[in-house]
Amino acid sequence: MEVSRAIELRRAVKAYDADHRMSEAEKEKLFSLAMLSPTAFNIQNWRFVVVTDPELRKQIRAVAWDQAQVTDASLLVVLAADLKAWEKDPARYWRNAPQPVQDYLVPAIDQYYRGREQVQRDEAMRSCGIAAMNLMLAAKEMGYDSCPMDGFDFDAVGKLINLPPDHVVAMFVAIGKGTQEPFPRGGQLPMSEVVITDRF
Ligand SMILES: Cc1cc2nc3c(=O)[nH]c(=O)nc-3n(C[C@H](O)[C@H](O)[C@H](O)COP(=O)(O)O)c2cc1C
Repeated sequence: MEVSRAIELRRAVKAYDADHRMSEAEKEKLFSLAMLSPTAFNIQNWRFVVVTDPELRKQIRAVAWDQAQVTDASLLVVLAADLKAWEKDPARYWRNAPQPVQDYLVPAIDQYYRGREQVQRDEAMRSCGIAAMNLMLAAKEMGYDSCPMDGFDFDAVGKLINLPPDHVVAMFVAIGKGTQEPFPRGGQLPMSEVVITDRF
């Protein structure tokens, strides 16, 4: 499938076939593609929490406005990020690079993030947002629908998945076989409002 076609066809789908199971090979493909999502300094700070336990899904649904996607989609992925990925053995993010590149980049990571809590959090959200989009487009190409979600109690979800204190939850992506056509698109803004040339 052409990327442009996947972008056009992807919609936020709310109703899923609860009996459909995704194969291990499909999951492997999906996450291997998601893991090619770019991150600043290649810190790969995303963490994909795949919620398989039906009881845990029910508990998450209860703190997610009772949204059916949470229990019915074949995959529920909680996209979280390690806020401290930048300081956890950062040399591994550049281990295949030539030595002069490693010597330059690895210390630069520390200089960029240390002491900048807001930047660390912003980076987490950027990385997860990009990865979520890759997941949704890959899913579309593989014959699946998806729904990006942030309609849930973030603290409650963090507790349910044992979120480590130096991690943050960004969003969910539910993926599965859609059973209902999505509503017509809500309506796109005019390009003249959203595409700005040079300056606001
Ligand atoms: C960050 C984010 C959070 C969202 N949260 C929810 C959600 O909790 N539940 C839901 O049904 N849809 C959710 N949506 C879907 C949006 O409503 C949907 O993407 C938007 O209306 C555009 O429709 P489309 O994705 O079909 O083009 C979310 C979308 C994004 C990007």
